[in-house]
Amino acid sequence: MPIIKVENLVKKFGNIIAVNDISFDVEEGTIFGFLGPNGAGKTTTINILCTLLSPTSGRAFINGHDCVRESSSVRKSIGIVFQDITLDKDLTAEENLLFHAYLYNVAKAERRKRVEDVLKFVDLHSRKDDLVKKFSGGMKRRLEVARGLIHRPKVLFLDEPTLGLDPQSRTNLWEFITHLPKRHNVTIFMTTHYMEEAEVCNNIAIIDDGKIISRGSPDELKKTVGGDVIYLKTKDNNRAKDEIKKILNLEAAIKDSELFLSAVKGEACIPELIRALGESVLSVRLQRPTLNDVFLKLTGKAIREEEASDMDTVKEEIRAYRRRN
Ligand SMILES: Nc1ncnc2c1ncn2[C@@H]1O[C@H](COP(=O)(O)OP(=O)(O)OP(=O)(O)O)[C@@H](O)[C@H]1O
Ligand SMILES: [Mg+2]
Repeated sequence: MPIIKVENLVKKFGNIIAVNDISFDVEEGTIFGFLGPNGAGKTTTINILCTLLSPTSGRAFINGHDCVRESSSVRKSIGIVFQDITLDKDLTAEENLLFHAYLYNVAKAERRKRVEDVLKFVDLHSRKDDLVKKFSGGMKRRLEVARGLIHRPKVLFLDEPTLGLDPQSRTNLWEFITHLPKRHNVTIFMTTHYMEEAEVCNNIAIIDDGKIISRGSPDELKKTVGGDVIYLKTKDNNRAKDEIKKILNLEAAIKDSELFLSAVKGEACIPELIRALGESVLSVRLQRPTLNDVFLKLTGKAIREEEASDMDTVKEEIRAYRRRN
């Protein structure tokens, strides 16, 4: 039995069809990624699964409970980190967590211990008495994840958890999220538009304009774009091209000073190439398709990657400006 089951879910806001007949399952203990551009319907789907919105039609189940008819059982099974930060900035880190534990009926005798444990887990224990308004963006995000875990949910929803963080905090937070399923026995449902983050998901659904347009593991999705590309530099590219055709029956092409060919499994093909060409090989590199290539192929547009990296560039420029002045 999957921990999340979604069947023909539809959500309309007036004329807008935010979620348009989507179906998918999520297996327990996995990281599931919901990938899509602005306005694709990711937050709307999360809100339905978290019982904050009712669907126009279709059904959704979490941990076997119907998200509409058994909303209170669903709420007990989930934790959520919203797209926008929702901590109380005028409370300390510890107070925020204690308040949440109270709201979720964690037994009084156990509250402090649980709060201590999650604070240690997110590496904020030494800052527990600080007001949240003094925290950095990354610290607030970690505290929100801690809060989402206090009542030991079966599923933790993370809506764009790393949005607006600098690259280093993003990497740290991400590293820590990937350990959650094993350490906390929790299933992760997350949305992101950072391709490199989606890479660590066990399964991904790509959503665009309210519809799921593709599903699979990152590798499966990338295979839909075509194979890997191997680039070679050799002492004599024309001769190497002929050899590759003769010995391996593969078509290579020459571009600038490099020879390139596509292969379904690039890593398995490289040793064969080297055996065939021997010492004439000067260098080899393997390029795999990215999830952005997948999105590009499916929709003809990029998924905000440029926008994200532009934002990083602007931030870096601001930092450099501050250092200079
Ligand atoms: N309460 C609402 N009332 C009217 N329209 C809404 C409402 N909530 C969402 N929408 C619309 O539904 C569509 C999907 O929005 P949603 O917030 O689910 O997108 P998203 O994939 O989370 O986007 P983002 O990446 O920007 O967070 C959008 O067209 C949005 O304007
Ligand atoms: Mg959203």
